[in-house]
Amino acid sequence: MSTWVQGKVVERIDWNDRLFSLKVEAEVEPFIAGQFGKLALEQQGERVQRAYSYVNAPHDPLLEFLAVKVEEGELSPKLQDLHAGDEVMVSPRPSGFLTLDEVPAGRELWMFATGTAVGPFLSILHSEDCWDRYERFILVYAVRELSDLAYLEQIRALEQAHPEAFHFVPVVSREAVDGMLQGRIPQLISEGSLEEAVGVPIKPARTQTMICGNPEMIRETVAVLEGMGLRKNLRRTPGQITVEKYW
Ligand SMILES: Cc1cc2nc3c(=O)[nH]c(=O)nc-3n(C[C@H](O)[C@H](O)[C@H](O)COP(=O)(O)OP(=O)(O)OC[C@H]3O[C@@H](n4cnc5c(N)ncnc54)[C@H](O)[C@@H]3O)c2cc1C
Ligand SMILES: NC(=O)c1ccc[n+]([C@@H]2O[C@H](COP(=O)([O-])OP(=O)(O)OC[C@H]3O[C@@H](n4cnc5c(N)ncnc54)[C@H](OP(=O)(O)O)[C@@H]3O)[C@@H](O)[C@H]2O)c1
Repeated sequence: MSTWVQGKVVERIDWNDRLFSLKVEAEVEPFIAGQFGKLALEQQGERVQRAYSYVNAPHDPLLEFLAVKVEEGELSPKLQDLHAGDEVMVSPRPSGFLTLDEVPAGRELWMFATGTAVGPFLSILHSEDCWDRYERFILVYAVRELSDLAYLEQIRALEQAHPEAFHFVPVVSREAVDGMLQGRIPQLISEGSLEEAVGVPIKPARTQTMICGNPEMIRETVAVLEGMGLRKNLRRTPGQITVEKYW
């Protein structure tokens, strides 16, 4: 297959004035839930390309991406300007290792996301064969403001469909919201609030974690988890912490 295929935007969903999703029709190779592809646009004769995780499950006919407009960014503001019918270049080849087949067995799988990094976890949670892998899937989705929580309806539907196996913990850092934790993921782990909210301890013998998004959040969260005895998951030395940095 060629390096790029022409995709067509089918829909843009605006979650707020900077957070949006694009549904795109494009012929790409099969991917594994949790992987990412690339989107690109021509700008002044040059192709500007960036990585974006698939939000859709592998079996869905349309590709879906969740993105935030980075104010001074080269590509994301242009992606936000796309409308249904517009063309966007899509890399046909998926990449990335934030996938369940890279994560060892355990009792609970904790998925920690900041901002748009909830996307790969939604792809995993909507994939057909995920639910028999762990007793519980715990999605911790941290954003600045309530309006930054995308896909809430889909996530609530997962809670209803899997009341025992799925636990959702929304975290909002910059406002107090009833029924949601306030703060940042590493602090909420180290002070015990997350374990208390879920009712499950974080321990190397039972816990697996996947962490995605803001690199500083990942660095600090890994440090806290290592302090609790968890180790990075590498192919040669399996552990409990699997990460993907967005920048
Ligand atoms: C493996 C991988 C998967 C990714 N998946 C997604 C995705 O699903 N959705 C998405 O929006 N972005 C994702 N990104 C980031 C994306 O590739 C771009 O970096 C982002 O859209 C900004 O591009 P830009 O050209 O507008 O800004 P640039 O000029 O490239 O500026 C980059 C700066 O923007 C900030 N930034 C970049 N991405 C984000 C983000 N998601 N949230 C907050 N701040 C950010 C950082 O400060 C970074 O240094 C992913 C990156 C990687 C490496
Ligand atoms: N979301 C907004 O209100 C807003 C407004 C204007 C512009 N923007 C721009 O939009 C882009 C994306 O912003 P975003 O809000 O999606 O992503 P983000 O800045 O990564 O924030 C997402 C979540 O991660 C938390 N976080 C940040 N650093 C952390 C760390 N070291 N440890 C743990 N948690 C950490 C944030 O908490 P804190 O809130 O404590 O940082 C927030 O809850 C940025 O370029 C930003 O400049 C966003």
